[in-house]
Amino acid sequence: MKKFLKITSIVLVIALVAVFAACGGKGDTDTDEKTTLVMATNAAFPPYEYKEGDNFAGIDIEIAQAIADKLGMTLEIKDVEFGSIVGGVQTGKFDMGIAGMTVTDERLESVNFSTSYATGIQVVIVTEDSAIKSLDDLKGDGSMKFGVQQDTTGDIYASASVEEDGYGEENVIRYKTGADAVQALKTGKVQAVIIDNEPAKSFVAANEGLKILDGTWVEENYAIAIAKENTELLEDVNNALAELKSEGKLDSIISKYIPAE
Ligand code: ARG
Repeated sequence: MKKFLKITSIVLVIALVAVFAACGGKGDTDTDEKTTLVMATNAAFPPYEYKEGDNFAGIDIEIAQAIADKLGMTLEIKDVEFGSIVGGVQTGKFDMGIAGMTVTDERLESVNFSTSYATGIQVVIVTEDSAIKSLDDLKGDGSMKFGVQQDTTGDIYASASVEEDGYGEENVIRYKTGADAVQALKTGKVQAVIIDNEPAKSFVAANEGLKILDGTWVEENYAIAIAKENTELLEDVNNALAELKSEGKLDSIISKYIPAE
């Protein structure tokens, strides 16, 4: 492939790429020459991804770096809106999406997922002095507002269950980040935030006057989103994950951020 790329006729290169793609992609056109592995995330989701000053930190960032190291590639991190990750991976703008992202049937229609590297549970955060004492109290009087991060599974579940419980669309307030939803809870704009358990713990630890309601909701698997056509990268990532697991590196990254209780 290196020789082909030297050919100055762009048309010819495009034609070759099209031919390779049509051949079913066995002789990969992309990753052979590529030295950069572009990861999309939404870095307001501790302990999976967050900013520490100008730097990115968190479980997903370290896993992505370890995968890039194994593939001999340079990791490039793009911090984008959560809802744009799947589409961007699908169109090839990003090589992979790593964002504490839950495997869902709907997302599987657009992208492939790696093997799962972690699990999450949806929980509910309220203020310490809240009248909401249990998940049952969420049924409430129809006036309660729920804060979620837009396009997350928390958003999807909240939207689905509010209807069951006699609420409407206006009761779900969508924020750009989980951190923004938590801010809205602190200022009384919403009465509950529905979000993944580990970020919930981080937010409760970092903000006074918040607590997580007892009882869990939906259990989910986190995995890495990769374009459907990019089966080679999917295989590479799965192999890298399997190695990281057997080396104990995956566990050590996770326990660095989530100390055993
Ligand atoms: N697990 C949830 C989902 O996949 C939330 C993920 C949000 N991640 C983030 N980096 N903000 O929808």
